[in-house]
Amino acid sequence: MDRLIISGNKKLKGSISIHGSKNAALPILVASLLSNQNLTLENIPNVADINNMLKLLEGCGVKIIKNKNSLIINSKNLKNISADYDIVRKMRASVLILGPLLSRFGYCKISLPGGCAIGTRPIDIHLKGLKKLGAKFEIENGFVIGQVSKNLIGNKIKLPSPSVGATENILMAAVMAKGETLIDHAAREPEIVDLGNFLISMGAKIEGLGSNKIYIQGVNNLKATKYKIISDRIVAGTFIILAVMINSKIQVKNFNPNHLKSLIKILKKMGANMDVLNSSIKIYPSKKLKSAKIETAPYPGFPTDLQAQIMSLMSIVNGNSEIKETVFENRFMHVPELNRLGAEINLNKDIAFIKGNKKFKGAQVMASDLRASVSLVLAALCAEGKTTINRVYHLDRGYAEIEKYLGKLGAKIMRQKI
Ligand code: EPZ
Repeated sequence: MDRLIISGNKKLKGSISIHGSKNAALPILVASLLSNQNLTLENIPNVADINNMLKLLEGCGVKIIKNKNSLIINSKNLKNISADYDIVRKMRASVLILGPLLSRFGYCKISLPGGCAIGTRPIDIHLKGLKKLGAKFEIENGFVIGQVSKNLIGNKIKLPSPSVGATENILMAAVMAKGETLIDHAAREPEIVDLGNFLISMGAKIEGLGSNKIYIQGVNNLKATKYKIISDRIVAGTFIILAVMINSKIQVKNFNPNHLKSLIKILKKMGANMDVLNSSIKIYPSKKLKSAKIETAPYPGFPTDLQAQIMSLMSIVNGNSEIKETVFENRFMHVPELNRLGAEINLNKDIAFIKGNKKFKGAQVMASDLRASVSLVLAALCAEGKTTINRVYHLDRGYAEIEKYLGKLGAKIMRQKI
């Protein structure tokens, strides 16, 4: 398990270009199972979750020809395999193969994902929605086995809450179902819009992407396409928060700032000094950064995936802040580790109380989940002295070669393979 050794308090400056979105690329790779044509995908991020997904798909007989950040994928010889516990446990996004396999074969068997560091992560909303399209499910020895007697049939589906994964699974199952489907109370994340636009580029008939009502008219097949995946707004948001913490001139490029409106609004309210351009943001030093009170929420609210990162920033601004986490039930695993680095954060149920005006000091810390890990990197880069972050495989799931990326800005980060 690798670890990172970070020497803090270096003056960082320059610009950083954002790679493709992991959470858009994952459902799009799975959606490719719906077609037996050659599909060309561009701007694929080189992160562990993507590489694991590619291995899972190749294990099902999918042909993949990779060339740097692009690939050609063909599912003509797709065999129906069951995604076993080890794969699904490590990468929850594998539950997304339910929809396409039911659509393609009328049968699928995947291990129940189980929980992870941030919560129990059930898939009841996925199964309820797919049942409304005609699928039947049995749970047996930790596996969920789905079957469709003839075809998936379009239907009206109202989600109990705007689940990102459930919206994606149902959307993929509906595009070749017979008749019309409405997904009401759908999630609105840009990654879902990107998945929908990819499907439309293959001939799917979808309206309402980005709203909470998505209408799908089933089609009989999907054609070949070439599609460029959006940049990763969470990686962009992470580095924007870092730039504000480091308090120096940094440009974060090659992403859509419209996907980060809620973060930009909060940072400006906290006194951050920035120019928002078409496909980049320039951050400048600011005199006085102040506290904030935020609540995470489904898009377009403040993203839960940036909660740990902004908590690092809140520890060093003037005044005390509060964060209410409303999306996951256990997403404060970074708190004890940030406190080891000198933060003073207390929890009361789903609210974190963050004392400001703290100075981070280097220490040994443990990564626990993907975004918790990167909040420790942000704190370590502002800390006095050296920080060692253990179990950085969590980080590698969503941030491509972070030591090289941030090294370009002048950060001193060394990876130790142990
Ligand atoms: C996606 O997870 C993202 N993952 C997560 O990013 C992100 O945090 C999350 O959406 C929220 O934005 C990918 O896109 C691969 P949900 P997902 O279904 O689809 C509950 C990262 O750091 N729920 O919107 O699993 C669930 O337990 C990851 O990149 C049910 O109860 O999120 C959670 O409390 C972490 N039943 C809430 O809904 C269900 O059937 C939101 O989950 C499904 C979800």
